Amino acid sequence: MSHQELINMTRSLVAHGAAGTMEYADEVVRVPAAAYTDEALFEREKKQIFRRLPLMVAPSCELPNPGDYKAMDICGVPLLLTRQKNGTIGAFLNMCTHRGNPLADGCGNASRFTCGYHGWTFKNDGDLLGVADSKDFGKIDKAAHCLKRFPVFESAGLIWATLDPDSILDIADYLCGYDDLLSAFGFESWHLFSQRTLAGPNWKTAYDGYLDFYHLPVLHKDTFGADFYNRANYFAWGPHQRLSTPSKYAVKVSSEDDLQIDLTEVADEDISYEVLVQGVWTIFPHISIASFYGGGLRGAMISQLFPGNKVGESFTTQFYVMENEPDDEEKIKAAHEQFDFLEIVVRDEDYKTGKRQHEALQSGLLKEVLFGRNERGGQVFHQWVEKLTNASDDDLLEIFAHEKAEAAE
Ligand code: FES
Ligand SMILES: [Fe+2]
Repeated sequence: MSHQELINMTRSLVAHGAAGTMEYADEVVRVPAAAYTDEALFEREKKQIFRRLPLMVAPSCELPNPGDYKAMDICGVPLLLTRQKNGTIGAFLNMCTHRGNPLADGCGNASRFTCGYHGWTFKNDGDLLGVADSKDFGKIDKAAHCLKRFPVFESAGLIWATLDPDSILDIADYLCGYDDLLSAFGFESWHLFSQRTLAGPNWKTAYDGYLDFYHLPVLHKDTFGADFYNRANYFAWGPHQRLSTPSKYAVKVSSEDDLQIDLTEVADEDISYEVLVQGVWTIFPHISIASFYGGGLRGAMISQLFPGNKVGESFTTQFYVMENEPDDEEKIKAAHEQFDFLEIVVRDEDYKTGKRQHEALQSGLLKEVLFGRNERGGQVFHQWVEKLTNASDDDLLEIFAHEKAEAAE
């Protein structure tokens, strides 16, 4: 993991904080309002972004044991994730190769799946194990009728899959080294405490809210934002961005202490990992990771956002992951309270506002929306969405080969 890169970012944030400055984008950027409301564009985004690029489909701790599986539907593609016997993850098209019936629903633990239609059986590594009444059925090559596999990659305690079985875009290339930084959280050994799914507005309207601190003291003034600083500096690895407050202080919150550490007085080697990963880490095109404490224990909310069926709809699964499982009732209660609070903030403040905003944009009477010089995250996000929506498959390979090389410099 690039410890030095984390230190460098922290030092840059501290220097800006001490000087009362921030990094600005070059100019105010305008995005056509139709980018949020155009139905044809929305369908193109689902195809070109969500069905073609690697997506973070699950934290590893959602499938910790061999046999664990999860079925999900992403933009019309039925996906089955399994933790195989050898500990690796398999990502499959969740469709029986007989006539396409989805093999699994929800989540659970199973070493094999029997199709509920005619009874064909598959191993959780995708192999076709048995054709029901195979003599009656007739001869087929079983090896040619395994479950269709999607490219999959597990790193930093997170699992990515590409919902195009023919994709040759290397998932590690796509991440541009960002997973190396994310590994500072140590999610490989964390636990999934709780999860839930919320309905939200258009996926980009919803995602915009994860990419700016500008709104925190205003929209969230009644919950947590009143004392929050509204500035963020941005760090980018390809389309993936971290945002964090330029400040010389690290706010450390735990059951024992609640104090501000002046980082100008702390040596590099004494800065803890939890301070080094402060802020929000987004993974293009649909993930946001932020640290929290529940019951005095370290946790993070991983928000995973997907477009819904209509242009004005999205849904977000919030995973509340914890470094250590709370082991007594009081801590469990406090962790639930923290997580419930985050649901309220996102549902009743961010997404409620996003839905109103989307309805108003649908009037068509505002032609453009603005992203200020202090909102570089949104600027960069929309530029990448446009670029990747319009890129050919060959362009994609070139774009990420280039980004990876840049990030490595
Ligand atoms: S569709 Fe699965 S066994 Fe027939
Ligand atoms: Fe917000």
